[in-house]
Amino acid sequence: MEKLGDLVSRRVGDIPVSAIHEMTRLSATMSDVAFLSWARPEGNTPEFINEAAIKAIKDNKVSAYSPVPGLLELREAIVEKLKRDNNIDATPAEIIVTNGAIEGLTAAVMAVVDPGDEVLLPSPNYSTHTIQVQLASAVPVFVPTIEEEGFRPDLDAFRRAVTPKTKAILFCSPCNPTGSVFSKEELLGLAEIAEEHNLAIITDEAYEYFTFDGAEHFSLASIPELKKRTISCFTFTKTYVMTGWRVGYVVATEEMIEQIRKAHIPMTICTPVVSQYAALAALKGPQDCVTEFREKYLHLRNLMCQRLDELNPVFSYQRPKGSYNMFPKIIVEEGRDSLSLCKDLLFKAKVSVVPGVAFGPTGEGHIRMSFCTNAEDINKAFDRMGEYFSAKGYL
Ligand SMILES: Cc1ncc(COP(=O)(O)O)c(C=O)c1O
Repeated sequence: MEKLGDLVSRRVGDIPVSAIHEMTRLSATMSDVAFLSWARPEGNTPEFINEAAIKAIKDNKVSAYSPVPGLLELREAIVEKLKRDNNIDATPAEIIVTNGAIEGLTAAVMAVVDPGDEVLLPSPNYSTHTIQVQLASAVPVFVPTIEEEGFRPDLDAFRRAVTPKTKAILFCSPCNPTGSVFSKEELLGLAEIAEEHNLAIITDEAYEYFTFDGAEHFSLASIPELKKRTISCFTFTKTYVMTGWRVGYVVATEEMIEQIRKAHIPMTICTPVVSQYAALAALKGPQDCVTEFREKYLHLRNLMCQRLDELNPVFSYQRPKGSYNMFPKIIVEEGRDSLSLCKDLLFKAKVSVVPGVAFGPTGEGHIRMSFCTNAEDINKAFDRMGEYFSAKGYL
């Protein structure tokens, strides 16, 4: 193993083993675990989408590459969706279909940053964003959010974090792991900083449809003057339970898309064509499934909050306004690290949750719980946590 070190790039070698994957590995060694650790939607892709994919296969439409940026008819359907749901004016030439939002984000980061450049990330943040920045040999700079105000972005802190090396701001809203939804005003505040310092804005809008309590998702690219510096990344993964199909898309100016395309080709050439036909069916078909998923998550969020209230002396939490994740703070055992608590919960209570340390410097002291599961699993996990914390004398 010593020898392997010499063969591994510093760029990759320096990336620590993710606490999320460590927990996933450990969870797989146990049976009958109540999982709240998967931020991937439970259930199946709607049948009309599956059928369209099967038809595309039977019609022999999927055996060759598609054009690099994706099937034209899919990009045309995306144009319509962007106008209808995001108020973004785009043309097919301003879109690349990608292997999920993840590949789009990686290609976007590659297209924007040079080695040594700094990228501002709100903390806590989605850990893959940090790795995307590191893979581009750039430097992640974490800007703490204001937890007591629902993990709101601290615009003054963002402004103070800018240096001559800052190249971009990268964030997701609705947010994984915190469930915060940045308001239009907050997003415009970030955009103002980007305008002042000529920064790119890379948005991850994976949870665009999952907002609650009147919070509204807002896309910065809907403002024409901001479009020139904004790269918006979307996905079918969350909206239509299409995790395994690996299909999403990036929207940016035509000039920027030309650059992102150069990074997209060596990563994938094109998105699997069968998945592109499935995505086309998703956009063209009835959209009731999206409303149903949103209602289901709202119901599960309410249940999770209610069950968390019962563990009140153990955790405090911000009620998530979006996504299907929440990020309670551990308020017993001061200084207890999140990884050891999560291991204890797994081995002693058979509950799988994710240690907050995986989500940036201000993530420690928290755990991430996802409610994209079912009421039975949530209740089972909380019953077990109740017993575990009662036995410790906290309840
Ligand atoms: C914020 C965020 N972005 C992107 C992804 C992954 O999206 P995709 O499957 O489209 O690559 C996830 C998955 O958990 C996520 O939480």
